[in-house]
Amino acid sequence: MMTGQRERNAVFSRINVADRRATVTVEIDGRTVTCRKGDTVAAAVMLADDGPYRRNPVSGAAREPYCMMGICFECLIEIDGVANQQGCLRTVEPGMRIRRQRAVQPLRERGEA
Ligand code: FES
Repeated sequence: MMTGQRERNAVFSRINVADRRATVTVEIDGRTVTCRKGDTVAAAVMLADDGPYRRNPVSGAAREPYCMMGICFECLIEIDGVANQQGCLRTVEPGMRIRRQRAVQPLRERGEA
C-alpha cells in the first residue's frame, strides 16, 4: 500500500504483501506521492487517487490505461514537462513530476518545435 494515499477502488489496488522495495517520492498533479521503486508511472497515478487517469481530448470521457505494455496508448501523460509519454513504459524516479493530460498536447510542448 502506498503511504498516505487512498486505494483507487476495490478493482485496482496494491496486493497486500510485504514489499521490501525502496520507496520513491514523486509529484503527481502537484501532490507529493510515495510509491515503490519499479512501479510504472501509470500504476503510480492509478494508485494515487480515484480520479480519471486522463480525459479524451474530444469527448472529455474518462480514460484509463488498458494494456500496460505499450500497445494501446491510453496511458499518455506528461512526465517532467514532456507531454505524451507512455506511463506504462516508464518507471518512477525520485523527484519525477507527473501531470495528467486534460487536452491535446501540441508538439511544441514535447520540445520538438
Ligand atoms: S497502457 Fe497501453 S500503451 Fe500504456
